[in-house]
Amino acid sequence: MSIKFVTSHAESIVSADDIKRLEPQAVAALETLNNKTGEGSDFLGWVTLPQDYDKEEFARIKKAAEYIKGNCDILIVIGIGGSYLGARAVIECLKSPNYNSLKKDTPDIYFIGNTISPSMVTELVSICEDKDICVNVISKSGTTTEPAIAFRIFRDLVYKKYSPEEAAKRIFCTTDRAKGTLKALADSEGYETFVVPDDVGGRFSVLTAVGLLPIAASGIDIDALMQGAAEAQNDFNGKTVEDNAVLKYAAVRNAFYNKGKKLECFVSYEPCMAMFNEWLKQLFGESEGKDGKGLFPVSCVFSTDLHSLGQYIQESGSSLMFETVIKFNKPKDDFVITEQEGNIDGLNFLAGKTMSYVNEKARQGTLLAHTDGGVGNLVVECDEISEKEIGYLIYFYEKVCAVSGYILGVNPFNQPGVESYKKNMFALLGKPGYENEKETLEKRLGIC
Ligand code: PA5
Repeated sequence: MSIKFVTSHAESIVSADDIKRLEPQAVAALETLNNKTGEGSDFLGWVTLPQDYDKEEFARIKKAAEYIKGNCDILIVIGIGGSYLGARAVIECLKSPNYNSLKKDTPDIYFIGNTISPSMVTELVSICEDKDICVNVISKSGTTTEPAIAFRIFRDLVYKKYSPEEAAKRIFCTTDRAKGTLKALADSEGYETFVVPDDVGGRFSVLTAVGLLPIAASGIDIDALMQGAAEAQNDFNGKTVEDNAVLKYAAVRNAFYNKGKKLECFVSYEPCMAMFNEWLKQLFGESEGKDGKGLFPVSCVFSTDLHSLGQYIQESGSSLMFETVIKFNKPKDDFVITEQEGNIDGLNFLAGKTMSYVNEKARQGTLLAHTDGGVGNLVVECDEISEKEIGYLIYFYEKVCAVSGYILGVNPFNQPGVESYKKNMFALLGKPGYENEKETLEKRLGIC
């Protein structure tokens, strides 16, 4: 397992010297992380997790996944932010964005509780009609409004469909070991529970039960996923940017930031990576976007988005952004383009070539075009889209994010800004305890 991190197509903006100059800060940041001496050091459980996880719980996750596979047509996964993005990213990447439409012997999986949209809930309730269902509700705090509302609705549905004893077997709760309303409810109703470790924050939790139960229920080999992450845990401890891609990546993105770039655009040429990019956006956005600092993470799937955002990136992107392409050397599948008599569509020059060959030429052509336009291009080169490689990539990115955040001078493990909208929403909804703020907020909105 390895990742090749290529910076040579960014050199006109960030030189090898620029990167080397940030090496001492990157090394210091890595030491801060390893020695647990930085801000947020109570949330570093993910650093050793791939090799040091709860094996008893891991076995229970696999058993629960087997039960889910054998007893339902649909698994409803309820959670928001770090409590759903990782699982969805891994399932879409390793199975497919069309997973639910594939022929398979595993249940369809729907993610809900990540919006407050009544239409999404209504639609899913109707999809569940005449189907056997299981529910996995995931919330570290156990109090987040979006999943809590969805859980009320789907818990009711489970109890409508099954006897109380049967219903209790079909509900799985992933939450804090001891506290929170979800834990209390699960204990009182006898639902099986899985733990979000105290020292692992939501966006770093995909390799805990948070991600692993839905991932295992989709038929993905979670042993291999963990093995890949465990290899990465061994691999990224070098003390120079030359022998540690984590240090190099963290240094180069800070070098871009110091040169005034505001955005990192995560790019994939495989649509199955679109949700992985969403996971990256949360990982970096919540970890670094604070104290007025941080690169804004955005994402594109090419060549799709070359036909929407390509114009902007080519001609106006240079002052704003750089791109990081996650590239897989071996495609999951391939398709040979056939020769056609008459060549009416003019495509016979591609006859006998594979679609992955054409995709790679699109990547190379775009790289040259965008660098000509002044947009720096980084490449994270991976071998193939497999369980091991994705586990490896997840851990690699978590570590890049932590080291990069420490170089930037922020606490990468808190998210104080997420609370502001919640406070306002609770006050406007009239939640007990928020009475004082309600009137002021309604005046500001002009609704009283
Ligand atoms: O990364 C985070 O901490 C957040 O995105 C949380 O995962 C998200 O807010 C959901 O929180 P909870 O799992 O407590 O419901």
